[in-house]
Amino acid sequence: MSSPPRFILVGCGLMGKRHIRGLAEARRHGLCSARLVGVIDKVPERASEAAELAEKLLGERPAVFTSLEDAMKGAELEAADICTEPASHHLVAEPLLEAGVSCLVEKPLSITVRGCRRILDASVRGGAVLAVAENYRRDPVNRLAKAVIDGGELGRWIGALHIIAGGGDAVLLSAWRHKLAGGILIDLCCHYMDIYNYFFGAPEKVSGFAALLRKVRYAREAGGLAVRKTPVEAEAEDSLDATLHYRDEIVAKFIANLAVTGEGVWHRLVFLEGGSIEIPMERTGEPLKISKPLDQDYLELMPHTTFLGQKPGEPYKVSPTAAEEIYDRETRILFPGILNGYRMDFWEADRKLIALELADFFHCVEEGGVPETGGREGMLSVAMVIAALESSYAGKSVRLEDVLDLKIEGYQERVNREIGLISDK
Ligand SMILES: NC(=O)c1ccc[n+]([C@@H]2O[C@H](COP(=O)([O-])OP(=O)(O)OC[C@H]3O[C@@H](n4cnc5c(N)ncnc54)[C@H](O)[C@@H]3O)[C@@H](O)[C@H]2O)c1
Repeated sequence: MSSPPRFILVGCGLMGKRHIRGLAEARRHGLCSARLVGVIDKVPERASEAAELAEKLLGERPAVFTSLEDAMKGAELEAADICTEPASHHLVAEPLLEAGVSCLVEKPLSITVRGCRRILDASVRGGAVLAVAENYRRDPVNRLAKAVIDGGELGRWIGALHIIAGGGDAVLLSAWRHKLAGGILIDLCCHYMDIYNYFFGAPEKVSGFAALLRKVRYAREAGGLAVRKTPVEAEAEDSLDATLHYRDEIVAKFIANLAVTGEGVWHRLVFLEGGSIEIPMERTGEPLKISKPLDQDYLELMPHTTFLGQKPGEPYKVSPTAAEEIYDRETRILFPGILNGYRMDFWEADRKLIALELADFFHCVEEGGVPETGGREGMLSVAMVIAALESSYAGKSVRLEDVLDLKIEGYQERVNREIGLISDK
C-alpha cells in the first residue's frame, strides 16, 4: 500500500476517544501513519466531540456521521476501528468486513460465540484483516510474565489464581454493562481470559458458577452537598467463580465478584514447580514479583504458616540486555528504558497500550501479516467466559471445543435472541 490507510472510527464514547489518543501517541512515535477520515456515532454530539479531539491531536478534522451506511457511501476506506457497545459489534463489523474493509474490533469481539463466528466468517468472505483490541496482554508486565513462564527458570506451570472483588452497588462504567445484551462478566473477564490464553493456551474443560447479586445498581453524581443516585436495573450476572481445566490436571482459577462493598481485592498469581509469579494489575506500572524459595525457607516456617507460601515475592531483576529480548521494538519505543515496571499515570499507560494495538493492526493492513490478537484469539477469550456461564447454566462442566463449535448454547440463547442472532422465523 503506497499511501497511509484511510480509516473510520465507529463509536465515539469512552473508548472511541481513548483510541484517538492512542493513535496520536502512535503517530508521535512514528509507529503508525493511518489517517482518520471519519467518525461515526449514533449520538451526534459524541461524534462531534471526537472530531474536535482528532483535529486537536492529529491535525486533521475527520468527517462526522451518525450512521455507518452514510459513512460508507462512496468512501474509499481501507480500515475501520470499532468501539461501539459489544452487542452491536457483529452488526457494525459484518458489512465492513464483507466489503473488504479491515477491522479492529474492541474486545469482547461479541457477547456470544455465535456473534464472534459471524464476524470471523465475514472477515474470511471479505478477505479483510480482523484484529481484536486486546490491550492488556501488551502491558510490559504481561510480556515479562510470559517471558518468565516460558523461560523455565521456575520450572513447569502447575496452577494459577486470579481473584477480583469490588464494584459495590455502582453502575460499572455504563448501564449497558448490566443488561442482558451487554454483561459485565463478558466485558471485563474476556481481558483476563485472554491473559490466561496468552500464558497457557486454551483449556480443555471449564466449570463455573455465576450469579446476579445486585439487581439494582446506582449511577452517582455529585449534586451540591448531596449525592444524586440514579437506579439502574441489572439483568446480567455480576459474580463468577470459574475453573479452567488444562492438560495434566492443571487448573487455573478465576474469581470475580463485582458486587461487594467495602474492602476489595485484586490479586493474580501463577504457580510453577519452583516458585510463583505475582502479576500486578495492568496500567499500574507496578513491578512483576517472583518468589523462588530455597530449602532453608521451608525450615523457617511456623506451624501456622506451613500452608502459606514459603517466601514473599520480590521484584524480578531484568538487565538491559534481557529487556531487549523480552520487549519488542515498539514496546521499547513507547516505554523507553523499560526493565521491570514503569512510572506513569493510568491515562498515559492506557494510550501507549492502545498505540501498540493500533500499530500492530495497521502494520498488518499495510504490509500484510497476522495481528497478534486476531478473530480466533478474540473468540477464544469470549468462549472461555461463556463456557463458565454455560457450565453454571447447565450445572456441569463443559468442553471448550463444544462451546466454540456451538454445540452448547443454552445460556446464550436468550442473549442471541436479544441481539438478533437467532429468531423463531
Ligand atoms: N480495552 C479496554 O481497556 C476497554 C475499556 C473500555 C471499553 N472497552 C470496549 O470498548 C467498547 C466501547 O465501550 P465504551 O465504554 O466506549 O462504550 P460507550 O457506551 O461509552 O460508547 C459506545 C458508543 O458507541 C455508539 N454506538 C453504538 N452503536 C452504534 C452504531 N451502530 N453506530 C454508531 N455508533 C454507535 C454509542 O452511541 C456510544 O457513544 C466496548 O466493546 C468495550 O468493551 C475496552
